[in-house]
Amino acid sequence: MKSDNPWLRIPADDYEKHMSSPNVAQLQLLSDIFANALDEYMPDSIGILGCTAGYGFEQLISRCIGKVVGIDINLAYLAECKAWFIEDVQNLNLICADLNELELADSAFDLIHAALIFEYVDVDKLLSKISNWLKPHGILIVVLQLPDKSASPISYTEYESIKLLNSIIKLVSLEEFNKTVSTSGLIEINSYVHKIFSGKKFYVGSYRKKVIPIY
Ligand SMILES: C[S@@+](CC[C@H](N)C(=O)[O-])C[C@H]1O[C@@H](n2cnc3c(N)ncnc32)[C@H](O)[C@@H]1O
Repeated sequence: MKSDNPWLRIPADDYEKHMSSPNVAQLQLLSDIFANALDEYMPDSIGILGCTAGYGFEQLISRCIGKVVGIDINLAYLAECKAWFIEDVQNLNLICADLNELELADSAFDLIHAALIFEYVDVDKLLSKISNWLKPHGILIVVLQLPDKSASPISYTEYESIKLLNSIIKLVSLEEFNKTVSTSGLIEINSYVHKIFSGKKFYVGSYRKKVIPIY
């Protein structure tokens, strides 16, 4: 695993405070999007890509889910996630891995949640892997920060370590994303754009894995 990834130098505490700062205000939004996905699709197996220290995992408490797998490159985040949630979230597994390199079994999940992770990985590669990791008819939920010429992708806050992300964040063009999705065996079933008060826009898309009939 590459050890020079800037995410490894961002303390969870800085990330949490940055994301919940009044001018960023994204932590609650992401948690609500996650809750809606769980309510709507009621998966029995779920993969959460770029799960950080488990922000939003409170939505998993008291739900009966047969397999919950959180994946992140930062082991310290996962240690925090474990400390917070191992007692209260049933069937929780955490994997420390670089999603650009990770291989998992095919057809592993009913639902994959990928919120603000495509900005940091090889989009084509990850979409193709996700398509394999989903069960037939499985659902992918994506949150993308939409490109905006008038705003810096990383909002300014007092948390210095967050500035490291300026060197790696790549906002994904929705057009390009959907072009790649269509070649990855996934069909869009629902999407909307959420605008927060700072003017930043987030695309929330749901996709279903196509099933190719065998005659
Ligand atoms: C913006 S945060 C994701 C927010 C989170 N999904 C949520 O809903 O609150 C990005 C996360 O992805 C992780 N990450 C970044 N690049 C990664 C990679 N190549 N492989 C695995 N995790 C990665 C970071 O460590 C960080 O925890």
